[in-house]
Amino acid sequence: MSDFNADIFKRRRAEFMKRMQPGVAIFPAAPEARRNNDVYFEYRQDSDFYYLTGFEEPGSLCLIIKDHPEHKFILFVPPRDKSMEIWHGRRAGPEGARSVYKADAAYALDEIEKMVPDYLKNQLRMYAHFGDDAAFDDRVTGWLNKVRAMKRLGINAPTEIHDPSEIIHEMRLVKNDDDLHFLRKAAKLGAGAHRHAMMMTRPGMYEYEVQAEFEYFSKRGGSHRLGYPSIVAAGDNANILHYHENNAPCKDGDLILMDAGCEVGMYTCDITRCWPINGKFTPAQREVYDWVLKAQLASIELSRPGVPWQDPHWKSVEVLTEGMVAMGLLKGDPKEIIATQKQWDEDVKNKKKDPKTDKAPKTYREFYMHNTGHWLGMDVHDVGKYREGEQWRKLAKGNVLTVEPGIYISAERDDVPRKYLGIGVRIEDDVLVTDGTPEVLTKDAPKTVEEIEKVMAEGKKTLAAALK
Ligand code: GLY
Ligand code: MN
Ligand code: MN
Repeated sequence: MSDFNADIFKRRRAEFMKRMQPGVAIFPAAPEARRNNDVYFEYRQDSDFYYLTGFEEPGSLCLIIKDHPEHKFILFVPPRDKSMEIWHGRRAGPEGARSVYKADAAYALDEIEKMVPDYLKNQLRMYAHFGDDAAFDDRVTGWLNKVRAMKRLGINAPTEIHDPSEIIHEMRLVKNDDDLHFLRKAAKLGAGAHRHAMMMTRPGMYEYEVQAEFEYFSKRGGSHRLGYPSIVAAGDNANILHYHENNAPCKDGDLILMDAGCEVGMYTCDITRCWPINGKFTPAQREVYDWVLKAQLASIELSRPGVPWQDPHWKSVEVLTEGMVAMGLLKGDPKEIIATQKQWDEDVKNKKKDPKTDKAPKTYREFYMHNTGHWLGMDVHDVGKYREGEQWRKLAKGNVLTVEPGIYISAERDDVPRKYLGIGVRIEDDVLVTDGTPEVLTKDAPKTVEEIEKVMAEGKKTLAAALK
């Protein structure tokens, strides 16, 4: 990778070692996944593995040994092999693992079975994350058993097994300048790509054509790949939260919702925008849109150090419910509606109500069924805890979260004013918690009705001029 900087990873390993107790930590590279016959899914390195090593080759293994006098960072990597490299691509080999990736020791993959048990000898603790990949779990058990079998030779195997996620995910949750360098780039590029897709949208295009504009702009601007599959949903499709078909025509008079993000240096942005396919919001679309925007801005404003994780969510729920009542989607007092939903959730949790047999009350949940955000970083739904014991975790400087409220009004409903049917709106930005005002990393993506209509009018002009 052109931006590769070995120092970033060295700093992270040093911090990881500082936080671990004496022992050996084992991190596997992501396994390759077969798509069909001899075709594999695009390979992407495991985020934890990459975070500590910067190494992108599949099949590799990383050991970190806190108290080893020389070998604190060990890599097992695919060996150099002329024929394999001609067919499948370049390899760093153990030599490159040492010189470029700064491993203290590096071996070819076929040395794993001998060397890993060797490194585990007489170590009190082993850090390994179980449960993601059964094949890896079995291998780790095998290495442990090899060392356990040496007991009568006076060699002890680790007896304490720890999950390294506890340490590494806490590190990943607080972004420093090394992380933000890439995250900002991804956010800026993704925001530009949303703007570009808006400008290029015309009635009659297919959803995947709008998707192509986003993806083209992202790649053209320096993003190697997307952070997650794009959701491009015209009209009523926006009311399917994880819509992925992206193959319907974009109709004049409908909105289109695009939830798409690109990756830069393994960090992804996560942006949703909605815009009118013909460039002009209808009054009903605008009403829904402005309520979602109001909720989003209020939640962003709350994203400050010391604020419990769920507070921005409840802020959005408050504003959205007020909007739903104002638009006639719901009847009653917004505060009571929210209290009713909370009571229902409590009753379900305590098994006093069964959602399969009891009728749920009609509340904001009918039109807003997801949470208002999640952590963001190398993984789109990034690692890190949301709770500490019974309490929601408090936001801290360096956290990056999404803020993404929405209102979804399915065309199949028969209990709301007709003018709102088939409107689905979500607005999603990526927010950095700072000491002061929250920083919206994705602010370059047009967001107000005025901005969007202006950008789309410019797009029309540009295209008309190009076609003259
Ligand atoms: N793109 C996935 C999400 O918004 O959570
Ligand atoms: Mn999101
Ligand atoms: Mn999203």
